[in-house]
Amino acid sequence: MSLFNVYPLNPIAITKAAGSRVWDDKGQEYLDMYGGHAVISIGHTQPHWVKRIEDQLHAIAFYSNSVIMPIQEELAAALNEISGKKEYQLFLCNSGAEANENALKLASFHTGRKKIIAFKKAFHGRTSLAVAATDNPSIVAPVNETNNIIFLPFNDIDALDACFASNGSDIAAVIIEGIQGVAGIHVASDAFLQAIRKACDTHGAVYIADSVQCGYGRSGQFFAHDHAGVNADIYSMAKGMGNGFPIGGILIAPHIQAKFGMLGTTFGGNPLACAAALAVIEVMQKDNLIKAAAEKGAYLINALNKMEGIKVVRGRGLMIGFEMEEGLEDLRKVLLNDLKIFTGEAKPNVIRLLPSLAITMEDLNLFLTGLNQAIQQLKQKKD
Ligand SMILES: Cc1ncc(COP(=O)(O)O)c(C=O)c1O
Repeated sequence: MSLFNVYPLNPIAITKAAGSRVWDDKGQEYLDMYGGHAVISIGHTQPHWVKRIEDQLHAIAFYSNSVIMPIQEELAAALNEISGKKEYQLFLCNSGAEANENALKLASFHTGRKKIIAFKKAFHGRTSLAVAATDNPSIVAPVNETNNIIFLPFNDIDALDACFASNGSDIAAVIIEGIQGVAGIHVASDAFLQAIRKACDTHGAVYIADSVQCGYGRSGQFFAHDHAGVNADIYSMAKGMGNGFPIGGILIAPHIQAKFGMLGTTFGGNPLACAAALAVIEVMQKDNLIKAAAEKGAYLINALNKMEGIKVVRGRGLMIGFEMEEGLEDLRKVLLNDLKIFTGEAKPNVIRLLPSLAITMEDLNLFLTGLNQAIQQLKQKKD
């Protein structure tokens, strides 16, 4: 049987990983500035994370959500503490799309309304409502099409206010990434997030902070939305939450009340996933990784801004995108094939950096040297 051919693959088989390094089946080592797409938060095969999962595996891997699971409560308390969202409630699931699907559904249950405001170039996942709120018609199947989503321009307060002025009583939720990832790293302005908070308060709508990619410390704050000094009503999380073990979840403000049967899942919140998520938080706290993300990100952004061949740098913390000058379109390929460095991309001309928050300064400098070398190599070819 063949694999369903939906991914354009790099012809590299990664079989081993540690920290910010991965190795292919031939023993070739690579520097991972991509973090497996923003998933690796504390480093590949981090020893405490491995041990936590291993120990849990010997105790119990799975039971259904029909019984009390102390490890879920332990995770909820740890999340309250690390996020600073003290009274928030936790619902666990398995992925980012699922987290957003549940957030949107919950907002609709809570308000009794149907309309959702999302933004141009947004990506929220591939399940039914999450994909409908994603601004990419090529991945929306006919069955997912709905007129319940209103797309507005990103960072445009006037358009937001005008939409609320005319549709305010129909709006269940506004969903926004604190930093748009798939779109090519675009930071939501503090003023825009504050305006969303104000409009949601005025009109009784739910503010959903999609923190699947920009959350979990990556931006230098636990949630990228924290930079704006606002609290969302629901935060969706996944990616860095399990450092590669599949887990997602939503943090829900105390004024949104649960009802039996409102949300549910078979695998969400299983003990193994909770053990992985707890290990991530423990390492983040012990090694001060949120502060490290802020400092290392500032260092990288500063160095990239000074580098010849780079046109624009955007981002916060260790969620960085940069655009290259004309003629350097093959930069990502040269980085991977010649310099053995994994990076991410966003079409048409953005390289995305999403490394582990535990990446060392030595590795960052190695990356900067490699990047400069790749740029010079391409420039020489062009001249
Ligand atoms: C902002 C954002 N939301 C949601 C998702 C969907 O997450 P998942 O692929 O885990 O379903 C992604 C994935 O890239 C994302 O970047």
